[in-house]
Formats: sequence, C-alpha cells, structure tokens
Amino acid sequence: MTNMLFGKNLVSIDDISLQNLNLIFTRTEEMKKLVKEKGGDSRLKGKILAALFFEPSTRTFSSFISAMQRLGGGIIPLNGMTNTSIEKGESFEHTVKVFSTYADCLVIRHPQVGLPKKSCLYSTVPVINAGDGIGEHPSQAIYDTYTIFKHFPHKKELIVSLVGDLKNGRTVHSLAKLLAKTNRKIHFNFISPKILKMPEEIKRNVALYHHKIDETDKLSEKVGMSDVLYVTRVQKERFTKLIEYEMVKSYYQVDSQILKNAKKELIIMHPLPIAAGEINTELDTDPRSIYLTSQLQNGLYVRMALLDLILRKESNG
Ligand code: NCD
Repeated sequence: MTNMLFGKNLVSIDDISLQNLNLIFTRTEEMKKLVKEKGGDSRLKGKILAALFFEPSTRTFSSFISAMQRLGGGIIPLNGMTNTSIEKGESFEHTVKVFSTYADCLVIRHPQVGLPKKSCLYSTVPVINAGDGIGEHPSQAIYDTYTIFKHFPHKKELIVSLVGDLKNGRTVHSLAKLLAKTNRKIHFNFISPKILKMPEEIKRNVALYHHKIDETDKLSEKVGMSDVLYVTRVQKERFTKLIEYEMVKSYYQVDSQILKNAKKELIIMHPLPIAAGEINTELDTDPRSIYLTSQLQNGLYVRMALLDLILRKESNG
C-alpha cells in the first residue's frame, strides 16, 4: 500500500482517510510485535522529533518521546516553555521556524484552538497536533479507535457512550469524528451535564455519516446498553468561573454500583488523567477497565506507527 502519510501533517481527524487509518492500524500491529520482541529498532536513526508542549502533559509527551526513541530517532523535548526564548517574548511563528530548522517533525500541544494548524504555515516539516485547547487530539482518537476495534473485532454495530465534559474535551471531539468515519455502525450516547454538551459542529460532523445519536445527562439510563463507556475529566482549566467547575466536576462517578446492569463485554476507557473521581479507583482492577492497560499501551504503538509513516517514505515495515 502506498504510504500517503509520508511528509503529511496530522492536525485534525479531517486529515485522516479510512485508507490511511487502515495503514496506521496495520503498522501499529507491527510496532506492537516489534516492541514485544525487540523493544524497537533503528529505522528512524538520523531523524529528530521536537516535542513542543505549551500545556501540561504526562502521557502524550512521554509516549511520543518513547515512540521516537524506540525507533532510534533523536528528540528535542520541551515540556513547558520556561527557559526558552518564548519567555523573552519570541513569537510563535519564529519558534516554529526555529524548531522546524532543527527537527524533522514537530509535535505541538497548545491551549489555543487551531495553533498546530496555523504552525503548518510556518513549518517546513510535518506537524502533529498533540492537543489544541478545546479543539482536537487526533493521535489520541486514533489509538482509542484502534483499541475499541481490537476489543470488538467482529461487531459491526457498536454502542459507544461518551461521558463527562463533551464541550471542552478534545479527546471526545476527535474520537466522535473518527469513529463516525469508519465502516462500523455506531450508536453514540453523548452523556454530559447540560452545560457541557457536545458542540453542534461535532454532532453535525457525526450526523453526516448517518449514525444514531442520543443525548442525555443521565448516565444510568445508558450504561446497560453500552459496549464502550468512554469517561472523561471535567476540564477545569477551560472554566472561567471556578464555582461552575465545582458544580459539575463530580457529576458522574462511575463505580461498581452503576455498572450492575452493564454488559460483561463492556470496556471502560478514559484518556487520563482521572482527576475528580469520575471513575472510582475500585474499578482500576476490574477486568472491564482498560484505561491503565491496553488503551495506554496502544498509545505507544500507534504513535510509533504514526512517526514511522510520517517520517519514512518506504511503505513496508
Ligand atoms: C487528555 C488531553 O490532554 O486532552 N489527556 C491526554 O492527552 N491523554 C485528556 C485530559 O487532559 O483530560
């Protein structure tokens, strides 16, 4: 298969075709095997990744770094911009130009929606969006989708319940958009407090593909039918009034009690971090919980696949 991702930006799910998604998934399988058997190899030797994180990150930052290093590449890791020229007032445009001179790929996280997309105008190397404010988080959505499909390889129709801060959560924006484009039939449950509903734009995008969408604030009504329960953190940093955050931060608390009518095959996902008890720690070791196991592991394999495909023209592993 031709590698259509070579040299390309990944700033939104709009950049991903179904064909490219299949290519990424195939390469992800190879990466999983590679890590398990040998830890990695040196196919990206001589390439450098700059990870420019203008917002806090644990997993996304370190999994991209790990992915690059497992494939033999070098890294410029900037997590937070203290001690850089940004503190001296350097513009975003200049910062991007500087790093695209030194690196072969930029992974950018920024609080402002659209900044990674804008940086493509200044960058001479591919840009990956690692989260832009309340916008998108495409690499997360790719591994979440991969994880869901691996758990349900044969189920043509899936009931996916997205729970929590659907207004501000970039992971659920990208995930809804990506799942909608796949060849599975999805019944979406968008479950949130009224002030945190899924944006109209995302709903319109999903509706283009004729999937069923139910919207509610009542989690208990939807748990029993769900195949996937994707729980999210209420995004405190996006609230202008702390009092409003306090009112909704613990709106949902998934625990074994609420799961009593859940399907045996249910999978419970979360992009992490769990911040306000939205999933009770008693579920961390429940076999249905995969946020600390396969979901997390797949993040590394998918990011290895993405870097390999974006940075190396050859289509074969
Ligand atoms: C998410 C993010 O940054 O959007 N974290 C992550 O990348 N796994 C989710 C969150 O912070 O709530």
